Amino acid sequence: MQKLKIGVLASGSGSNLQAIIDEAAAGLLPVEIVMVLSDKPDAYALTRAEQAGIMTAVVLPKDYATREEYDARVVKLLTLAGAEAVALAGYLRIVTKTLLDAFPGRVLNIHPALLPAFPGLHGQRQAFEYGVKVAGCTVHFVDEGLDSGPIILQAPVPVLDDDDEETLTARILQQEHIIYPLALKLLAEGKLTVEGRKVRISD
Ligand code: GRF
Repeated sequence: MQKLKIGVLASGSGSNLQAIIDEAAAGLLPVEIVMVLSDKPDAYALTRAEQAGIMTAVVLPKDYATREEYDARVVKLLTLAGAEAVALAGYLRIVTKTLLDAFPGRVLNIHPALLPAFPGLHGQRQAFEYGVKVAGCTVHFVDEGLDSGPIILQAPVPVLDDDDEETLTARILQQEHIIYPLALKLLAEGKLTVEGRKVRISD
């Protein structure tokens, strides 16, 4: 099967990126990561990409007057690399229409909470402090809102009595590493159809 060429945007440790790299290397995910791009030159995600032989790029926000100009540069680099879809993986920037229009219906994000609860930064912390009994994570299509696009997959994670934010975050991350590659697999196989807010998964 033809592999889907994706660009991954990451600002931090890149453990989700690693999960995608590993599944693709194991032949379980028909995806080729053509570029890992970061807004942070010291993001460990870049090191992971280099170790896997993936092309990297850094685009510094301070070099651009607007978010649209920033995203235009990102689109240029991703397009030159041959990306057909984009996976945000711990990317700490809100993307603009400029990026979304370049990859229509093909920008995904992972969020560490069961959306629509706890959007924005530190979803796990918000859920933990709120006192939910079930936390979790969500893979969704990206739209112009904040973590508001159609939901592709979610995984619940029970909150245990002796959890602290750190232990809960770690268990959520384990689930992220399962559902993000799976969502990308479904995308690559053409099995996702968006109907309004609903994402239909065909088998
Ligand atoms: C993950 O919890 C993800 O859900 C959130 O940022 C974190 C990134 O972790 N958007 P990593 O960089 O993939 O390790």
